[in-house]
Amino acid sequence: MQSPKWLGRCPDCGAWESFVEEVLESHQKSEVSSAPAQTLRLEEASHTDVERIPSGMEGMNRLLGGGWVPGSVVLIGGEPGVGKSTLMLQLASQFSSRGSVFYISGEESPAQVAMRARRLGVQKGITLVAETALEPLTALLEKESPALVVVDSIQTILTGDLSSAPGSVSQVRAVTSVLSRMAKAQSFILVIVGHVTKEGAIAGPRTLEHMVDVVLYFEGDLEYQYRMLRSHKNRYGSTFELVVFEMTEGGLKEQDNPSRLFLAHRDKPPVGTAITAVLTGTQPLLLEVQALTVPTPYPTPRRTTVGLDINRLHLLTAVMIRHGLNLGNLDIYANVAGGFPIRETGADLALVAAVASSLHNRTLPENCLFVGEVGLTGEIRPVPRLDIRLKEAKQQGFTTAYTPAVDLKAPRGLTLKSVDHINAILKLLR
Ligand code: TYD
Ligand code: MG
Repeated sequence: MQSPKWLGRCPDCGAWESFVEEVLESHQKSEVSSAPAQTLRLEEASHTDVERIPSGMEGMNRLLGGGWVPGSVVLIGGEPGVGKSTLMLQLASQFSSRGSVFYISGEESPAQVAMRARRLGVQKGITLVAETALEPLTALLEKESPALVVVDSIQTILTGDLSSAPGSVSQVRAVTSVLSRMAKAQSFILVIVGHVTKEGAIAGPRTLEHMVDVVLYFEGDLEYQYRMLRSHKNRYGSTFELVVFEMTEGGLKEQDNPSRLFLAHRDKPPVGTAITAVLTGTQPLLLEVQALTVPTPYPTPRRTTVGLDINRLHLLTAVMIRHGLNLGNLDIYANVAGGFPIRETGADLALVAAVASSLHNRTLPENCLFVGEVGLTGEIRPVPRLDIRLKEAKQQGFTTAYTPAVDLKAPRGLTLKSVDHINAILKLLR
């Protein structure tokens, strides 16, 4: 029973003199200064003072926005087995020549970490901490002040302040909040490893995204050796930057030509495929868009996408029907080869080309790229950074590019075909 004022007798149970005064935390006034807040003129604020520490991996630097930033908090999420611990051990080892590294391993015993380290050829320079209680960890960090702290994983660390189980939302949040504050105060880099489970655990890394500076997700089909690491949030750089790694016997190796990995068959494009160029952060990436049209056995035809926005397919299908394509009684399946998720409209033109190619059972021209947003009237609209997309296409050996009408000089050897309406593409296949 709670009451805002003292009562002699409890109205609930009838007991006399049973009320105890308890001051609620939020009602307490804390010691804050009443002096006016400090201001700073924008032009006086220095933006160059963000120190960057090279990570030792080129793609990783790009992902971080130029390197590690002291005092920043980086979250690395991914399914178990994707390679988070492997990557962190490699990065920790690279870092160790620049500052002291503490690797807090709550998941694996020191012997297991040491075994992996030997496999990766990592020998010295990392201090292993086998502790899962938060309070001894903060005491240690206070005393030692390292330059890089890796917590592998956040779900294993437990604070005595809360009675909830390790890995619960309140635990991972409380632990993250305490460690982040320490990272800012002592200016060490804090990397938090978090497991994402298939069931999409509530206490997963997603609940921490707003508390950290950089969010990286590690993805990849575990049956293949390629892994994608992408930035979903970065206070110090651009988002959706991508690094593709190959998982080898000796750990993760950065791939410097990801477009090549995603293009399965470029020279002789099969029916229903078209190549496009998307932006991943600041980098261009060539992808193969695939479409399959088949007579539907259902009353309403099915439209399914993997790696593409389903609403985009619905919209473009309507536009194609309006411009004479007989898709009304066909199921349409659309896919991005390699499973890479496309989040931009620049792939519209390739999707239209792939669907039309499947419908007419005719292939598109060889070594040909399709970039452009398609509007509701079938018009083709400009996309950002067409220049770097075309440069990448040229580098990968493409010779023709269908693009929106733009005032742009094509790279030498690449013929630009500016088109302002999808009819120009549909005509290619009729
Ligand atoms: P791991 O880093 O333990 O994944 P996570 O921390 O995300 O759970 O990676 C585990 C997988 O990587 C495991 O199946 C073995 C494989 N692996 C290699 O193929 N090569 C290596 O050099 C290492 C260290 C691991
Ligand atoms: Mg691990």
